[in-house]
Amino acid sequence: QTEPQTQRDAKDAALDAVRATDPDGPLTTDQGVRVDDTDNSLAVGDRGPTLLEDFQLREKLTHFDHERIPERVVHARGAGAYGFFEPYESLAEFTCADFLQQAGRRTPVFVRFSTVQGPRGSADTVRDVRGFATKFYTRHGNYDLVGNNMPVFFIQDAVKFPDFVHAVKPEPQNEIPTGASAHDTFWDFCSLQPESTHMLMWLMSDRAIPRSFRMMQGFGVHTFRLVDRTGRGTFVKFHWKPVLGVCSQVWDEAQLTAGRDPDFHRRDLWEAIAAGDFPEYELGVQLIPEEDEFAFPFDLLDPTKLVPEELVPVRPVGRMVLDRNPQNFFAETEQAAFHTANVVPGIDFTNDPLLQGRNFSYLDTQLIRLGGPNFAQLPVNRPLAEVRVNHRDGYGQQVVHPGTSYAPNSLGGGCPATMGGGQLAEGVFQHYQQRIDGAAIRRRSPSFDDHYSQAALFWRSMADWEQRHITAGFAFELGKVEDQEVRRRMVGNLVHVDPGLAAEVARRIGVPEPEAAPADRATASAGNDVAGPRVSPAL
Ligand code: HEM
Repeated sequence: QTEPQTQRDAKDAALDAVRATDPDGPLTTDQGVRVDDTDNSLAVGDRGPTLLEDFQLREKLTHFDHERIPERVVHARGAGAYGFFEPYESLAEFTCADFLQQAGRRTPVFVRFSTVQGPRGSADTVRDVRGFATKFYTRHGNYDLVGNNMPVFFIQDAVKFPDFVHAVKPEPQNEIPTGASAHDTFWDFCSLQPESTHMLMWLMSDRAIPRSFRMMQGFGVHTFRLVDRTGRGTFVKFHWKPVLGVCSQVWDEAQLTAGRDPDFHRRDLWEAIAAGDFPEYELGVQLIPEEDEFAFPFDLLDPTKLVPEELVPVRPVGRMVLDRNPQNFFAETEQAAFHTANVVPGIDFTNDPLLQGRNFSYLDTQLIRLGGPNFAQLPVNRPLAEVRVNHRDGYGQQVVHPGTSYAPNSLGGGCPATMGGGQLAEGVFQHYQQRIDGAAIRRRSPSFDDHYSQAALFWRSMADWEQRHITAGFAFELGKVEDQEVRRRMVGNLVHVDPGLAAEVARRIGVPEPEAAPADRATASAGNDVAGPRVSPAL
């Protein structure tokens, strides 16, 4: 389906430079030599043998043999679209980020939505977390907001990520299951790692089976930091809210859809954009002054916690519209490389231990997935901001750099220099000057200890029918677990969330109903009073 692409912006114009210019012209080899016949190999006589000197055949096969690249180690299946972001107001009071300075000034974006667990060819509507990754092509460089459609995560420390993903991925001996979380290793891990409980509540809820990418929220998850012109920081949580509202499938519908149209979500996104029915999302921020860092009954650096909107309202600051489909899935969507460490002046990190690991992991994985250090030169990743580097060579180098490549340099000849010591100079990235003091220690902060309060809060904020769906989700998924001890342990964790939920799941999957110790009840209610009755992302 090729609908006319009418939306033009700076990124679209920049892509003109790499678009195939005359696809209807004569066929050539990679060397530009015209090909007379692409249907028959060069052979002796009528019946062969085929000759090795047929460089046209060899080039065609060789190129084909190398068409596949490794899929993403997680989030392998996705769909992308271009569009724009425009702020409603200037956020200069909080950040010097150029793209947030002026109401109405548009910044081109590329967004990739994804599932997490399944391989590239898996179905869209499985029960899973959805990725919501946005690349802003700002005038001061690319900024990536690499989020999910749920506001918390399964683990608190990046060192657990490989363990978590090994548990969630198909079992090693038979690669089952390829698209759902219903298997022993996943539940074994989660039952032994109670910090996952809050995220499990989201995963068993209808949020995990969205109706459409156009109807789901996005969250940056971590607490990030905005930095203003004077170097002052403000903690921030990022929220995307779909203008169409949040809408999910019901479980039976999701299963039917997965069978009948495994491309349900990517088709929906593509067709909506092609028809001019552009998906739109509002960007909201929760802003927390640095002096309030310890004002909450949970740790702001803990990615298994959200900041309830009753405590810090979400302030709408801009909108994003997706108005253009890519022209080539591989070149654009598959080769897109998002990275939490792609930040611009005015946006910085915090010490969230999950975020800090991510800041290493994305670049590291892309070095192998995209074949070396030059993938930022790929069309979809290339910034609109000018790039002048002293990096050289490497696989896939596209740039012909004249001159030398070292600094300091008195001979000149093409080496870009830094902008010098000007603190807070316009458009220069300055790391937030955080004072850090302490002994190096391999230990989880005790402030990350409470794993159940917000899970319980989430449960209590649900309507009756939502609670029924969550109960059914747990019963369905745990009902597939063969190891009875894993089932029992998981139900034992659910007691801390809600004894009634645990009892009903236990009944449905045929394990003994766990007893709720008084201490469990105390843990389940700790810290909830301040949070109020509603979990934040209600629309
Ligand atoms: C993709 C690592 C946690 C959102 C990926 C990829 C890796 C990775 C290696 C594949 C990237 C590629 O091949 O280009 C990690 C690690 C995590 C972590 C080590 C924790 C320590 C998270 C969290 C979120 C998230 C908390 C959401 C806030 C995403 C998204 C993608 C992704 C959206 C897909 C990006 C795309 O569309 O290309 N992650 N991840 N990840 N991750 Fe994470």
